[in-house]
Amino acid sequence: MSDTYIQNLIADRIGGCQYGKSTAIYKFEKIKRAKRAALAANPNAEIIDMGVGEPDEMAFPEVVDRLAQEARKPENRGYADNGDAVLKEAAARYLEKVCGVRGINPETEVLHSIGSKAALSILPAALINPGDVVLMTTPGYPVFGTHSKYYGGAVHNLPLIQAHAFLPDLDAIPAEILRKAKALVLNYPNNPTGASATPEFFAKVVAFAQKNNIVVIHDAAYAALVFDGRPLSFLATPGAKEVGIELHSTSKSFNMTGWRCGFVAGNELLVKAYGDVKDNTDSGQFLAIQHAAAYCLDHPQITEQIAAKYSRRMDALVQVLRAAGFDAKKPRGSFFLYVKAPGAALKKDGGRIVFKSAEEVSQWLITEQRISTVPWDDAGAYLRFSVTFIARDQADEKRVLDEIARRLSDVRFEF
Ligand SMILES: Cc1ncc(COP(=O)(O)O)c(C=O)c1O
Repeated sequence: MSDTYIQNLIADRIGGCQYGKSTAIYKFEKIKRAKRAALAANPNAEIIDMGVGEPDEMAFPEVVDRLAQEARKPENRGYADNGDAVLKEAAARYLEKVCGVRGINPETEVLHSIGSKAALSILPAALINPGDVVLMTTPGYPVFGTHSKYYGGAVHNLPLIQAHAFLPDLDAIPAEILRKAKALVLNYPNNPTGASATPEFFAKVVAFAQKNNIVVIHDAAYAALVFDGRPLSFLATPGAKEVGIELHSTSKSFNMTGWRCGFVAGNELLVKAYGDVKDNTDSGQFLAIQHAAAYCLDHPQITEQIAAKYSRRMDALVQVLRAAGFDAKKPRGSFFLYVKAPGAALKKDGGRIVFKSAEEVSQWLITEQRISTVPWDDAGAYLRFSVTFIARDQADEKRVLDEIARRLSDVRFEF
């Protein structure tokens, strides 16, 4: 097909006149294709999908009922713009009750989001000028960095490695990068490493931000999914509100990924700037959804039930993977188990397969064992298993995990 004039009108930030012409296949597409090929080769086989990045269950029935009630109210029908007080007040109560964060003013220090992804895509417009640098952890969720680059910013990657407990080494950032750095984006519990932050690390982050005049954006999408103790909010750190904001979401904590609702809280000026750009971006989430989300925030026991299920699955998965030779350790939160990828697999029939990357392992696991995972090669070769795999009930959950153990039993991995 020859180019039309439209091809030449595409913005450079997404590829300009080359847009749409790349033949590179990206990670998630490769996984999809491998799954399709494995099914085509063996149509009756079950592919065990350990790569899912969202909850396997619906929102709780009482939350769905609340949405239905709220959706019937005429006063909820219109544009929500930057929202009413219901979610903001629930968010402030939630931060205090669940995370121990006191003194958040719901009027000026909280604003809803249409999910954290939307907030991460909006915030760079409020912060990034051409030439500004954003400090982003890698591997990680790239949305803030992608939009920062749209505005002429640059991303400096901070590798998350096991030797550093998958926390970024802030002391290793070169001085010339720090001079241009405007924002530090963190996410704990972390996708994909499953690592959690500590109060000491967050205290270090506050001091680092103050010293270097940097804004901290803490993406707390998995914060409530903890297996022991209370969620750790960045905002609970002394001084945090002077340097940053935190993004919470009902997606993972309340099985509401499709509902699109969360909130941004913290530094008043940053919340205001987010609100101004947001107001020029969307017209707010449906108030009925915001009100159902507020109901959730007042019922954190829902999240506790969800986290208990993930914890149970995590215990079993750790055992299965350890028996197969992986160095699997239960994380303190999230639904991700991040394990070092093997360098080779020795099969019972004597065959030995050498892997050059986690991506090669992941492709082999799908093709040969019909187990789907997500590979990460950004800072070492790792595989991410999610405990949000589909299972009808606890008996089926056990069957799925036993089946993984069975499929991996005739392979010896080398690390
Ligand atoms: C680290 C991280 N941040 C944000 C999001 C997006 O969350 P939301 O559904 O609230 O947009 C995800 C979703 O996978 C995520 O993994």
